[in-house]
Amino acid sequence: MSAVELLDGVDNLRVLDEALHRRTIAVISHPDAGKSTLTEALLLHAHAIGEAGATHGKAGRRATVSDWMAMEKERGISISSAAIQFTHRDTIINLVDTPGHADFSEDTYRVLAAVDAAIMLVDAAKGLEAQTMKLFEVCRRRGIPLITMINKWDRPGGDALALMDEIEKRTGLFPTPLTWPVGESGDFQGLIDCDSGDFVRFHRTAGGATIASEERLSAADAADVAGIAWETAADEAGLLREEGHVHDESLFLSAASTPVLFGAAALNIGVRQLLDTLVDFAPSAESRADTSGSRRPVNSAFSGFVFKVQSGMDSNHRDRVAFVRVCSGVFQRGMMVTHEPSGRPFATKYAQQMFGKDRETVDLAWPGDIVGLINASALRPGDTLFAGETVVFPPMPRFQPEHFRAARSTDSSKHKQFRKGIEQLDHEGVIQVLHSDRRGDQTPILAAVGPMQFEVVVERMANEYRAPIAFDALPYTAACATDAAGALFLAKQSSTEVAVASDGRLIALFANEWKVKTLRREHPELRLDSISAE
Ligand code: G4P
Repeated sequence: MSAVELLDGVDNLRVLDEALHRRTIAVISHPDAGKSTLTEALLLHAHAIGEAGATHGKAGRRATVSDWMAMEKERGISISSAAIQFTHRDTIINLVDTPGHADFSEDTYRVLAAVDAAIMLVDAAKGLEAQTMKLFEVCRRRGIPLITMINKWDRPGGDALALMDEIEKRTGLFPTPLTWPVGESGDFQGLIDCDSGDFVRFHRTAGGATIASEERLSAADAADVAGIAWETAADEAGLLREEGHVHDESLFLSAASTPVLFGAAALNIGVRQLLDTLVDFAPSAESRADTSGSRRPVNSAFSGFVFKVQSGMDSNHRDRVAFVRVCSGVFQRGMMVTHEPSGRPFATKYAQQMFGKDRETVDLAWPGDIVGLINASALRPGDTLFAGETVVFPPMPRFQPEHFRAARSTDSSKHKQFRKGIEQLDHEGVIQVLHSDRRGDQTPILAAVGPMQFEVVVERMANEYRAPIAFDALPYTAACATDAAGALFLAKQSSTEVAVASDGRLIALFANEWKVKTLRREHPELRLDSISAE
C-alpha cells in the first residue's frame, strides 16, 4: 500500500488536536445494573442536562435521553443505540449507547466496533452477571480497554475485596482501583482517592436529582469523621496497593488491567471521578485498522464507517439515519465522499447529531465523533466512506442465527409496505432475511440471534410501515452457508431447506446442529460454513 497522504498545515494540527481531545466510549452492563441512570448522571455532571430524572425507576420513569423508542420505554431496556456527545473539562466525550439485552448482541457488537474504550458497569450486590460477561468477552476479543465502575454501593450486599477477586478470576483483567469505598455497601460514606490518599466525602441531594457536593479531607481528618469505616477502607486500599494493584496505563490500554471505581449513579456519587478517569486515562480517538491490517492515521483525509443504520427514530420525520464513526480527517457537512462498496460519490448534505430525541445539524466532525447521516438509503452497517485515498474498513460481523420464523403479511392490501419494511429491517441488520423458492417472496424467512428481535420486527412493521405481520414457526435451529452444488444436494434432503440471503449467499437451514455434524461427517465434500464471521 502506498503511504497515506497526510493533511497539510493548519488542518493537520487541528485534526491531531481534536482527536487528542476526544473519547469515544460505550457502557456495557447487564440489564438493571444502572446504565440509563449512569448515562443521565454523566450528562448531569457534564452540565449537558440540568437535572436527572427525579426517579430512575422504570414504571412511569421520565425517559432518559438515550432511551427513545416506545418499546424501550415500555420494557425498560435499551434496544437501539443512540450516540450522545458532551464535554468534560477540555475533552469531548462521545457516549455510544449499547443494547442491554443478549438478544441484540449482534447490534451491540457493531456498536462496540465504533468505540475506543468501554465502561463495564457492575451492580455491587450482583457482581459480574451473565450479560456483563458476554459483553466483556466481545470487548476482550476486540482488545477494547475497560474501565470498571462498581455501582449501587449505597445498597447493602457487596463486598469490595471479593469483587476485586471476582473481576480478576472471571475476566482475567488485573483490577487497579482508582477509588475505594469508605463504609461497607449500604453505608456509603465516601471514597478514598487512591492516588492522593484523600477522603472524598459526599453530601447527598434529594433523589439524586442534582450533583452531590463533595468535600475533600486529608487522611488524618478522615479518621476523625469516618472512624472505623475509614480505618477499614484505608487498610484495604493499602493492602491492594502493596499487592501491586496500581494503575498502569500501558496494561490498561492493552486490555490487560482495568481501573476500578466505586459509586452510586442514582445518587450521583463517584460520577465525576469516572468522568475524570475518561479524560485522564481512556485512549483518545484512534484510527481504525483497514482490511489489510494497516491503520490510516487520524490526520489523513476523511474516512469513517457506518456502524448502525436506524429508521423510525423520529415518528415526525420517518427517515433513516446511518451512524458513522469518523476515523480520520475532518468531516465537513456537504462534502462529497466516496461510498466504498459501490464506488459512488455520496453527498453528506444532511448530517446530524442526536441527543435523545433532539437533533442538531453537524457542520464539522473530527476523529472519534459520531455523525448521523440522514436519508442515506444506500448505506449499510460496515460500509466505508472516505475522501482522498481509498480505504476499506473490515465488514461488520454477522452472528450465527438460531431462531427462524416465516413472516407473512396479515393485511393483503399492504403487500408493498410489507416488502419494503422487511427489506429495510434487513438492511439495518435488525434481522436477517432469507428467501426460499419453496415459500416465495410473500413469506420470507426471518433469522435471528435472539427471539426478542422478532418482537422488534412485529412492532416496527406495524408502527412504521403500517404492515402488520404474523409468524409461522419453522422447525430449524441451525444454519450454514453453502454453495450451488451444496444447495442442489441439500434441497433433496428431508427437513432441510435452502434459502438465499439479500447479499446472495446460499443459506441452508437444519433441524439442529447434530444434523449438520452428521452431514459434515458423511459428506465431507459438502460446503457447510458457519454464518458468523467475527
Ligand atoms: P439499566 O439501564 O442498566 O437497565 O438500569 P437502570 O438505570 O434503569 O437502573 C435499574 C434500577 O437500578 C433502577 O431501579 C435504578 O433506580 C436503580 N439504580 C441505578 N443506579 C443505582 C444506584 O446507584 N443505587 C441504587 N440504590 N439504585 C440504583 P428500579 O428498581 O427500576 O426503580 P427505582 O428504584 O428507581 O424505583
